[in-house]
Amino acid sequence: MKHFGSIPLIAVLAMCSPLSFASENGKALFNNSCITCHGAAGEGNPVMDRFYKVRIPRLNMQYVQSKSDDELKNVILNGKRKMPAAMNGLPETQHKSKITAEQVPDLIAYLRTLKNK
Ligand code: HEC
Repeated sequence: MKHFGSIPLIAVLAMCSPLSFASENGKALFNNSCITCHGAAGEGNPVMDRFYKVRIPRLNMQYVQSKSDDELKNVILNGKRKMPAAMNGLPETQHKSKITAEQVPDLIAYLRTLKNK
């Protein structure tokens, strides 16, 4: 019985591994800050493509996934071409703040999970 009793604890610890925690936190950031323009799974948003008059890069695709963490960090914090520096909160939110450097690693951990979905 003692041995059986230890299995669920191990399962719980596995679910709380730092990586899955980071990507869960990153998912919340993504849903707050990227989803409007890039879609729920990075698959894009045709309405936003028309608005920006550009085919916004799909975040689940090779073009984006092959970028280094540093490149992604730079896009998120500083923007690139038509993309503005990323903000906490959807565009319609009143009080917005820029995504901070401390938030970026969790966000990138989540972006990496979007690959090939
Ligand atoms: C207000 C709309 C908007 C939001 C919000 C937004 N993006 Fe973008 N993003 C764009 C547009 C537009 C482009 C295409 C820019 C261009 O090619 O001119 C882009 C491009 C990108 C690219 C590709 C850059 C490259 O090297 O070509 C990445 C990566 C990216 N966004 C990540 C993110 C992440 C991560 C978030 C959330 C933190 C985010 N974006 C939030 C509009 C947005």
